[in-house]
Amino acid sequence: MILETHTTTPLQNYKILSNTITPRPIAWVSTIFPNGNVNLAPFSFFAPMSVNPPIFSICMMTKSDGLEKDSFRNITTTQKASISMCESSHLQALHESSTELEFNISEASTFDIPLMLLQSGYPPVPKGVKVAFMCDLYDVLKLGDGKSVLLEAKYCYIDDSIYREDLHFQPPFIARVGRMYKELGAQLIPELHQVHNSLEIDNSPE
Ligand SMILES: Cc1cc2nc3c(=O)[nH]c(=O)nc-3n(C[C@H](O)[C@H](O)[C@H](O)COP(=O)(O)O)c2cc1C
Repeated sequence: MILETHTTTPLQNYKILSNTITPRPIAWVSTIFPNGNVNLAPFSFFAPMSVNPPIFSICMMTKSDGLEKDSFRNITTTQKASISMCESSHLQALHESSTELEFNISEASTFDIPLMLLQSGYPPVPKGVKVAFMCDLYDVLKLGDGKSVLLEAKYCYIDDSIYREDLHFQPPFIARVGRMYKELGAQLIPELHQVHNSLEIDNSPE
């Protein structure tokens, strides 16, 4: 089957990408609301784009009401975001943090996700993550009807339990949780995968 992407709908394109480019890493993004609350949300359309300087891209679609996602609004307002790599122990919290809440309402407070501040001036990250990047907004790319934020990592946090001076971290020491909720060397977690699929499709462009 060959599908022509100019004839498929935005939702079909989303499904094709989402279900073929797997597993994808997840950026667990912390940002600050105007009232000071911490917003947390997972994004799997996430990739490192450049090494020097280290820049990541995250494609942010709109909320179900068509408005910008809270993460996008906060990043473009404050110019700051922290990206955490999720541990397998955080799967439930990561999943809960994808809930669409009112602007200024924190997923961290709503779902009791404890936070830790790694670098002043940057949003705190979920407690217990082993790797996080404290980033400044580098640019916003408008590609068709979507928007991607480019985030430049100004600080990298590597937990002492995995840090090595030669920077050769061993994959088994980092829980590499991906878009299919698959951990390296582990089985899919079917219930989460099921819930997540419906959630992601609900949040996708119609
Ligand atoms: C595992 C996972 C990956 C997701 N990836 C994306 C993504 O790449 N882009 C996106 O716009 N939404 C993605 N979502 C949906 C957002 O997390 C969701 O819309 C969230 O409510 C956005 O929060 P915010 O409005 O606080 O920014 C994903 C959800 C999950 C569970």
